[in-house]
Amino acid sequence: MRDNRSAWSAPRVAQNYLHDEGLQAPEKAALALVGDRVHNRPILDIGVGTGRTTAALRAISSDYVGVDFSADMVDACRIRHPGVDIRQMDARDLSVFPDRRFGLVVFAYNGIDYVGHADRLRMLAGIERVLADDGWLLFSSHNRAVRVRRPWALSLLRQVNPPMGKARRLAGWLVGIARHLSRRPFEQARPDHAIVNDDGENFRFMTYYIDVASQRAQLERAGFGPAAAFDLHGRAIGPGETAADSAWVYYLAGKARA
Ligand SMILES: C[S@@+](CC[C@H](N)C(=O)[O-])C[C@H]1O[C@@H](n2cnc3c(N)ncnc32)[C@H](O)[C@@H]1O
Repeated sequence: MRDNRSAWSAPRVAQNYLHDEGLQAPEKAALALVGDRVHNRPILDIGVGTGRTTAALRAISSDYVGVDFSADMVDACRIRHPGVDIRQMDARDLSVFPDRRFGLVVFAYNGIDYVGHADRLRMLAGIERVLADDGWLLFSSHNRAVRVRRPWALSLLRQVNPPMGKARRLAGWLVGIARHLSRRPFEQARPDHAIVNDDGENFRFMTYYIDVASQRAQLERAGFGPAAAFDLHGRAIGPGETAADSAWVYYLAGKARA
């Protein structure tokens, strides 16, 4: 898959995340489910970005490390959270961490969706290795049951860089169309997932989409137990439900019991 790392490293992208703070409803719902079982346990926060989740997760445990492959994200996060262990690292290689080191691994806000299928499976295997036998993985992923909008949708013209004037918004819309036309040939549709150039950051990324049932099956093949899933309102998604009104879905899974 076309590499998203340089797109995530663009300084303007980091700026867009600077003001996000606190946990989202599905993250709260998932953490409420594990409750005390992760209290004071080591936490790995992958794709930490500018540190939206850092304070909330450090309230659960001060044994916390955040990692991100974008230097700009790491710099911004360190400024926001001085003294906290924040490292520049690609989650495709977690070899610096020993086996079963963490009680909780978080990969929030769809960070896992910006590598291709083989790398996603490699990351899940690496996470399974660094997770304690009674540890938990919490992450979100784009929902394939939701229809993806294309850049020529006029509604996107209103949305692109909203604080800007009309002329710049129009220019942004045209940039989005140009980006999409150059990335569209790299889109893929596979039986259990798709790689899509969606409107995230004005069509900068190739993004992995998967439906809830396929994600649950993928987790089980990677050595995890049955996953709980939550929509964007924090409502639990039952077996057979597709959550077609939820642009992305949060998953909470423990390791499969031997
Ligand atoms: C949508 S942002 C989420 C940031 C933050 N976790 C939040 O919830 O606000 C996704 C983050 O994942 C990071 N990321 C994506 N793939 C990664 C990888 N393979 N290794 C480390 N970080 C990655 C990106 O650099 C970006 O900062």
